[in-house]
Order: sequence, then C-alpha cells, then structure tokens
Amino acid sequence: MLEFVALILAGIHFGVPMAYYLYLRTRCLNKPWSIKVDENYKPKVTIIVPTYREAEFIWDKLDNIYAQNYPRKLMEVVVVDSASDDGTVDLVREWASKHRDISLRLVEEPERRGMVPALNFALQHCQIDGEIVVFTDVDAVWDSDALTKIMRNFADPNVGTVTASITPTTSSSDFLEGAYREYYNLLRVAESKVHSTPIHNGALVAFRTSLLHKMGGLPSYTGNNDSTPASIVAFMGYRAIQVDDVMVKEPVRGGQFYRKVRRAQHLLLSFLKTKRYVKKLGVYRHIEPFEKIWKMEWWLHVVNPWFLAASAILLVMSTLYASFTAITFLGIGIILLVLKAYRTWVLQQLYLVIATVRNLWTKEIAWSK
Ligand code: GDD
Ligand code: MN
Repeated sequence: MLEFVALILAGIHFGVPMAYYLYLRTRCLNKPWSIKVDENYKPKVTIIVPTYREAEFIWDKLDNIYAQNYPRKLMEVVVVDSASDDGTVDLVREWASKHRDISLRLVEEPERRGMVPALNFALQHCQIDGEIVVFTDVDAVWDSDALTKIMRNFADPNVGTVTASITPTTSSSDFLEGAYREYYNLLRVAESKVHSTPIHNGALVAFRTSLLHKMGGLPSYTGNNDSTPASIVAFMGYRAIQVDDVMVKEPVRGGQFYRKVRRAQHLLLSFLKTKRYVKKLGVYRHIEPFEKIWKMEWWLHVVNPWFLAASAILLVMSTLYASFTAITFLGIGIILLVLKAYRTWVLQQLYLVIATVRNLWTKEIAWSK
C-alpha cells in the first residue's frame, strides 16, 4: 500500500515540472518578446561590483568591464568593498591610476556585513547618476557587447530588469552545473517572453535605478541581489526578463555543495516573503501572466521537492516489508542516477530540502567562501 502512495507522490513530483517544461517549450519559447527594443538606446549605466577578499579576480573584472564596447563616458563603475584584508582595494586603486579615462569609485565599508548591505551602502552613499544600475559578481566574465545588448531592452519603459543567461566556464567536474543551466535558461527565457521570470542571475543583472529607489533599496530578507529585487520589479508591474542573446560566463568555484544550498536558501526566502513585502510597500500590481508563473515556480521550489523526499522515504520503508514493487522502483530510481539530467534534478531537490531545514536556524545573509 505504502509503495503505491510513494509512486503517486513521485508521479506528481516529476509530472508537474515536466508538463510545465513542455508547455513553455512548445507554447511560449517561440513567442515574440513584445518589447520595443532600440539598438541605439544608450542610457547612463552605473556598474556596481561588490567585493570581499577578491584580489584574485578584481583586476581581470575591471579589465573586462573596461573592454565593453559601450561608450565609456556613459559608464560609471563603483567597487564596494567590505574591509577585505587581501589587498583587493590596493589593486582597485592601482587599476584606477592606470585607467583614467573611465569613472571608477571605490567605496569602503569599515566592516563586513554581507553583500546586500554592502550594495545598499553603495546605493545610499554614492550619488548614482546612472539611469540603470548593473550588479555583477566579481568572477563573472562578460562578452564585450553584453552591456549594449542588455541596455537596448530598456528603451521600452515597461522593462524594469534585464538579466543575462549563464554559461558556466567548463572545468573537469562541472558538467552538472552545465546541464542545470541549460534546462533553467530555457525556462527563464520562456517565462520572460510570457511576462517575467522570478529568477535572475547575479553575474549580470540590470535595474532601472528609479525602481530600486522605489522599493527602498535591496531588501535584506533573502541575501540575494538578483532574484528577489527582480521579482519585486515584476510585482510592481514591470517586465523582469532574462534575455537569450547575452551569455555570461561564471566559473565554478570550490565548495559547490554549500554554495548550492545557500543559493537555494535565498530563493526559498524569496518565494516565501516577496509578494507580501511588495504588498506592504504599497506598490503591488496584479499582472495575471506573472501571477501564474510565480505560482508555478513557488510550487516547484517550496512544495514539489518534498514530494520526492516523501516518496523516497515511503519506498525505503516498504522495502523493509520486502515489498517487491518498492525494491524495483527504488532500484530504478537509483540506477537512473547515471543519467546526467536526472541526477542534476535530484540533487537540486536535495538542495531545496536541505535549504528549507537550514533556513530554520540560519538565513545565510552574509557568507564566507
Ligand atoms: N562588499 C561585499 N561584502 N561583497 C561581498 C560580500 C560582502 O560581505 N560577500 C560576498 N561579496 C561579493 C563577492 O566578492 C562576489 O563578487 C559577489 O558578492 C558574489 O559572492 P560569491 O561568494 O561569489 O557568492 P555566489 O556566487 O554564490 O552568490 C551568487 O548567488 C546569489 C544569490 O543567492 C551571486 O550570483 C549573487 O549575486 C547572488 O545574489
Ligand atoms: Mn559567485
């Protein structure tokens, strides 16, 4: 009996996201963007790079921004550092002294409080002239036309946030990351065509500055600077999109397990708290297509992983009663782990389950590497 309940739970767990994926793929992915793109739209941009102990990456990062084909006089770079003790800020100063034809400001926090507080510190203490603010992780590498391609979407006043798609730079052990990104990029882009996607990428995420101010700066309840503020923008009635013509490279840094759990924790908090937060701010607008996307992603992140966990537990319990069905299905479930996509999926469910439990005692707003 238990094993049949387990199979139903597993059926729901795999069936719902598969149906959603197929629906997006066949019905939404090929839709037009319905955005008034203007190739020549070049607003002033403020690029904010948060750093904590990033001596290894900061020089290349500044070089990478410098190499953008965007007009240099329309770019302003802000590095906000939180008391790094590894020489990061000396490198920033040295780089600035060698590149006087780009505006660069270094903002130093006296102590480390985490990435989001650091970014808010920069938003408050710098006079930001940019019509658009871009956040970018120090290790993210952009193609030279990334900014140009992102900015042209802002010609449409309905667009509030634009993020890039991610390709992980391949190293020997990161094939999991690759499969995961491929699947998710498709979902994010299709959702963006329908209206907006609730999940954005800190490797390159651009906001209309006025909207960041309107939401009172980045909210501090999740610890992320991408998905949560982007979801807020969508709940304010603006488009929050991931484009498919800008790919950003993100190296796979060590400590993947811990990192994945932390990111899952941020996402979960975002799904649990963001809608209420926007309503409290008094800027909420009901946009039907986005509400549907939000509900589905909410289900997929908050509820769906538990169906798999419950199913696995029930199957294990049934094997104790020597149930042949249970042993067969548990065996199939384990053997399938040789398949890359399936394994990636199961791992992500595990991260979300662990993240839920971990959120009970630590929210991971500030983290060490
Ligand atoms: N100033 C400052 N202070 N910067 C910080 C701090 C801090 O306390 N902590 C982290 N950073 C900087 C890092 O130096 C890096 O440039 C960026 O924030 C991202 O930090 P990582 O340690 O690389 O974290 P991640 O890549 O796992 O975080 C990603 O996921 C988050 C969502 O969960 C990033 O994409 C974030 O942008 C995203 O919000
Ligand atoms: Mn990172």
